[in-house]
Amino acid sequence: MWEEDVRLMREAGVNLVSLGIFSWSRLEPIQGKHEFGWLDRIMDMLHEGGVRVDLATATASPPPWLSHAHPEMLPVMADGVRLWHGARQHYCPSSPVYREAAGRLVKALATRYAKHPALAMWHVGNEFGCHVPACYCDVSAQAFREWLQERYGDLESLNRAWGTDFWSQRYSEWDEILPPRRTPTWPNPSQQLDFMRFSSDALLECYELERAILTELSPGVAVTTNFMRFFKPLDYWKWAEREDVVSDDVYQDPADPDAGMRSAMAGDLMRSLGGGRPWILMEQTTNRVNWRDVNIPKAPGQMRLWSYQAVAHGADGVMFFQWRQSRAGAEKFHSAMVPHGRPESTPTWHEVVELGRELAGLDTVCGSRIKADVAILHDWESWWALELPSKPSIRVRHVDQLESYYRHLFDANLTTDFARPSDDLSGYRLVLAPNVYLISDEAAGNLAAFVEAGGTLVMSFFSGIVDPFEHIRLGGYPEPFRRLLGLEVVDWLPLADGEDIKLNFGDGTMAHADMWSELIVLAGAEALAHFSGSTLDGRPAVTSHKFGEGRAIYVATRPDVAAMARILRAAAADAEVKPAIEAPAGVSAIRRSGPRSSLLFLLNHRDVPVDVPVADPGSNLVDGSEVHRGLLRLGPRGVAVIREGW
Ligand code: GAL
Repeated sequence: MWEEDVRLMREAGVNLVSLGIFSWSRLEPIQGKHEFGWLDRIMDMLHEGGVRVDLATATASPPPWLSHAHPEMLPVMADGVRLWHGARQHYCPSSPVYREAAGRLVKALATRYAKHPALAMWHVGNEFGCHVPACYCDVSAQAFREWLQERYGDLESLNRAWGTDFWSQRYSEWDEILPPRRTPTWPNPSQQLDFMRFSSDALLECYELERAILTELSPGVAVTTNFMRFFKPLDYWKWAEREDVVSDDVYQDPADPDAGMRSAMAGDLMRSLGGGRPWILMEQTTNRVNWRDVNIPKAPGQMRLWSYQAVAHGADGVMFFQWRQSRAGAEKFHSAMVPHGRPESTPTWHEVVELGRELAGLDTVCGSRIKADVAILHDWESWWALELPSKPSIRVRHVDQLESYYRHLFDANLTTDFARPSDDLSGYRLVLAPNVYLISDEAAGNLAAFVEAGGTLVMSFFSGIVDPFEHIRLGGYPEPFRRLLGLEVVDWLPLADGEDIKLNFGDGTMAHADMWSELIVLAGAEALAHFSGSTLDGRPAVTSHKFGEGRAIYVATRPDVAAMARILRAAAADAEVKPAIEAPAGVSAIRRSGPRSSLLFLLNHRDVPVDVPVADPGSNLVDGSEVHRGLLRLGPRGVAVIREGW
């Protein structure tokens, strides 16, 4: 079958494969005995076929012999249940047994393949944290204590940072400290937050251990590990700094009407994580997945559209899970590039071949960059803290808040980066803070400095509430932003599920909002909209404050989509931010620029043809056609990549 595989890869224009991701038990069938012959053969065959390899370190699924001999390397959940081998990812990230065994395998692989001509990149582990983001076993407990000792130095500082006087939790010895295992009610929130930090770092150490071996034994070869979009357990900002290439796995739900918006958002995150560098779409499915309750297929053209969308948002490579559909195992009903049946009789195969042919003509795109005037603030620590239990409302969810902003940017074709609150924001004109519940003094100062220097900021409710220890910032909410916003939030009035509150924009426009409301006292800001018809009748709901050379807008509730669009449109106008082009509804437009080229991507998300006004003539790299000033017709789910200028 392998010969046929290489032949089909050539037919489909495949020039990179991820190889051996779950092959540890084949590479090392018994402890210390390696079998590389089969991998040598595949590597050689791929090389002869002109296909390069993103070679996996194969450490994501330890072989049964390891956990059988050392059950203590298996992960334990918060309730004490141990997870056994028989699936994948069954390892405790802090386990010295696992780490040593993984390290030995990576050394052997790197030694053998560092010089192989097919080797293009190293693929470390796989989707770190996917099934087991944290382990609560005794080994992890000890590693957690060491991590805490490093962070706090002495026990008194830890007691203070965790507020352990509350509920009699004061620790007198380090050994008393545990991961937040299952408790009668909420574990200490500061402890939980530190455990999330620790767990992200514990997995990062596993990645780093492998990366160190690879950079030593296989210098100059890029190293990546595949991310999972907005994956809560791992602080990808920290991870991405340690990757040569950021790569991502995107499994849109074809039944989700917002799938296009969500994958655009993931693309912008991946580009931003890499500081603007091109990234790789490492995994997507050609058609159906197997892990939803009902796995509906992608519509004709949808895989192509979403592949181009990744490229439009900064990807330089488009890959798939998986090459050939398997005959056995848990994923045999997951679609693939090569199906169970005869490839030539399936539409999916023809789409794959067509995409491969088209992408081969897009070399000009490689290395080009995207310039965004807008940044959305996204911080993992704030996300973790916001979603700890025991809050005024547990309905406030970080990604929902991001989406309530991003939706408008996507619809309006305003090119957007993601950034941390502490990042240098001076390159942006408009910064959006859907929610920064947790913020450090430095980051709060950074946001104020951005506005003072002339930037426009839009911030939503329940921001600036706690410091990095998850302690309330006292002195009137939101303490670090009161001067910047020109107001004080006196109290929060969360809304019941299904409850609605009205907004009055004062020009005859009324809108709805839900989930949250606040009692605000202005201290320099003006109201752009007031609450209407509740106990907050006539009180400010959306405010604007001139601060230094810039402006800070505050949104004290969750407005409906039209009202949010109105607020963000006004903010974009204030910041003089322009869309890539004025495109009709359902069409995305985004530009990538190289030293000598400007490339306009147009993506029609609709299943009917759409005419898009094009101002600059050029050529369409997808089919080589000339593009004239005027209307360009995009077919249903059609795409164009216009090289602007002749
Ligand atoms: C990813 C994983 C792949 C495969 C795929 C199925 O999470 O990396 O190995 O399981 O999902 O959609």
